[in-house]
Amino acid sequence: MPVTLVPSLPTRFDAAPTPAPSRPLDVLGVPGEINLDYAASAPCAQAAADAVAELLPWYASVHRGAGALSRRCTLAYEQARQTIGDFFGARADDHVIFTRNTTDALNLLARALPAGTTVVTFAGEHHANLLPWPRGSVRLPVPTDPAGAVRDLAAALSELRRGSSPALPVLVAVTGASNVTGERWPVAELARVAHRHGARIVLDAAQLAPHAPVDLLALDVDYLAVSGHKLYAPFGAGVLIGRADWLDAAPPYLAGGGATSRVGPATHDVTWATGPARHEGGTPNLLGAVALAAVCAALGDADRAALAAREQALLSRLRTGIADLPHVVELRTFGPDAPRVGIVSFVVAGWDSADVTARLAAEHRIGVRDGLFCAHPLAQRLLTEAAGRTGRRDLPPTALRASIGLGSTAAQVDRLLTALAELG
Ligand SMILES: Cc1ncc(COP(=O)(O)O)c(C=O)c1O
Repeated sequence: MPVTLVPSLPTRFDAAPTPAPSRPLDVLGVPGEINLDYAASAPCAQAAADAVAELLPWYASVHRGAGALSRRCTLAYEQARQTIGDFFGARADDHVIFTRNTTDALNLLARALPAGTTVVTFAGEHHANLLPWPRGSVRLPVPTDPAGAVRDLAAALSELRRGSSPALPVLVAVTGASNVTGERWPVAELARVAHRHGARIVLDAAQLAPHAPVDLLALDVDYLAVSGHKLYAPFGAGVLIGRADWLDAAPPYLAGGGATSRVGPATHDVTWATGPARHEGGTPNLLGAVALAAVCAALGDADRAALAAREQALLSRLRTGIADLPHVVELRTFGPDAPRVGIVSFVVAGWDSADVTARLAAEHRIGVRDGLFCAHPLAQRLLTEAAGRTGRRDLPPTALRASIGLGSTAAQVDRLLTALAELG
């Protein structure tokens, strides 16, 4: 797909309507710069840029004004909520709550847990899905394959239910795809196990949603968290979608204007709103919501199977190329053939990973990530495993990660492989 530059924004109130974009899933970029770091933040989709550009002249308050601009913005905000909920298969009585990102969405859910809830996670999660959960949460070891994850969860929930009242809530928190290895987790099976034991499940879809359809109803998950900036909509919005009861019973996540239905004169004389407004105190991020909805709509109209096939071909080119370089070692949890999205982590033997990223940027104009990817327990475990698997003693203590998506090309992948080959 061609890389396009940022379009100029209409500035006049009565500007002619922007023609419908012909390629909403093109992404913006800068010619010559090779972005292979989509897993951190994906580039902006044309659809998101167009939606923002179209609404900007109308920009006004949301839920706070009677003027035509304000009414249009309120409508756009609520339509965005509907579009995003539909795209992710929200049930009719689910709430779709706008947040800043996945971290914010999972923290909101953590604050809404009924008293006494035990949260069960795996140690392979991103910090956003490890750290918000209350004391007493159970962290299961990283399994060696997807079937092991299902078995381990079933065993842990049986044990938990034996030792606690069946009435106490349990929440299972899992990722759809690892931000370190790209490997997919068996979400539908984990949801079945959770529900069999009377637990709920939240899906961290930050890395899965940009690469594959994610449908709450089809997966039968109770909650879903996602970030707009990883889904080609970098305007600062994310969402938490899911069951209303815990959310409506919880204290407001952000107390303030918009979250109340009545405030009396006494200090604590407040009636909090129910519904999404309860947790969306303050003026909302209209442009973030509209941008995310535009990408959801564009992806909803797209041939996702064709997009996935294209991405898998590029991923396979990248992984095969890495496997052919004797000094480069891939990190993995489940094994080489496990289903995965367009994310690969690896190390270059004998090279500090930060030096590699600096060199790739300076000499090849390639952007990739280095470090432990906000998943320290997993990344450190996989680095140890890689050293054991290869018998090498010259692997660095942090890793590199390349990630691809819409707009990525074989030429970009080949440029990275050529640059890595030079380090051998
Ligand atoms: C799997 C996963 N979950 C959660 C997050 C947190 O996302 P954000 O930084 O947008 O809150 C990330 C970010 O990299 C991630 O990869």
